[in-house]
Amino acid sequence: MTVIEAIKNRRSIRKFKQTRVPRKDIETLIDAARYAASGANMQPIKYAIMENGAEVYPLTKWAGYLTEWEPAENERPLTYIAILGDTAVKNSFEPDAGAAVTTMMLLAEEMGLATCWLGAIDKKAIKEMLGTEREVLYLLAVGYPAQESRVVEMKDGSVKYYEDENDVINVPKRSLDEVLEN
Ligand SMILES: Cc1cc2nc3c(=O)[nH]c(=O)nc-3n(C[C@H](O)[C@H](O)[C@H](O)COP(=O)(O)O)c2cc1C
Repeated sequence: MTVIEAIKNRRSIRKFKQTRVPRKDIETLIDAARYAASGANMQPIKYAIMENGAEVYPLTKWAGYLTEWEPAENERPLTYIAILGDTAVKNSFEPDAGAAVTTMMLLAEEMGLATCWLGAIDKKAIKEMLGTEREVLYLLAVGYPAQESRVVEMKDGSVKYYEDENDVINVPKRSLDEVLEN
């Protein structure tokens, strides 16, 4: 798989097979994130592997554009990576966290793994669950895909992804013409 294929094929997946991803594969993702670009090379991001998916799930929110939708109990992720900010290193984390999560998502794509980046999370409860001093930034759900998702042309300016009659998630993306301003 080439990098451009990983970039274009990667989609947020919100239904997962109930087979656990080996911890060593999760560590491979985190190891890759160490190589991501970092402002002033401060590298303030830390990671925690959470293999207690059933306990983490109630602290997450899924697919805001799909009304009253959530993965069924037997479709939920078993594993999450918590993305943490180390305040002993620095107090702002956003660009570094984005670079790190993107790096992990693209490698996951190459490894045949599915991911969903989660920002709508109960950070306080996750912090308590982890017993960490770090700032909780995001979760990355990781598993084997049990859902299809694809990019579609954006119509009527709507950014809302939707599920079609074949249970495929359709994700509108802005065209090159729209995003390229000169
Ligand atoms: C910062 C950030 C936070 C996100 N939080 C959530 C979330 O809490 N729940 C969810 O289901 N998806 C979440 N997503 C996934 C987005 O909905 C998804 O990336 C977007 O719809 C585009 O789809 P794609 O990733 O398949 O290209 C988040 C993505 C980003 C970048």
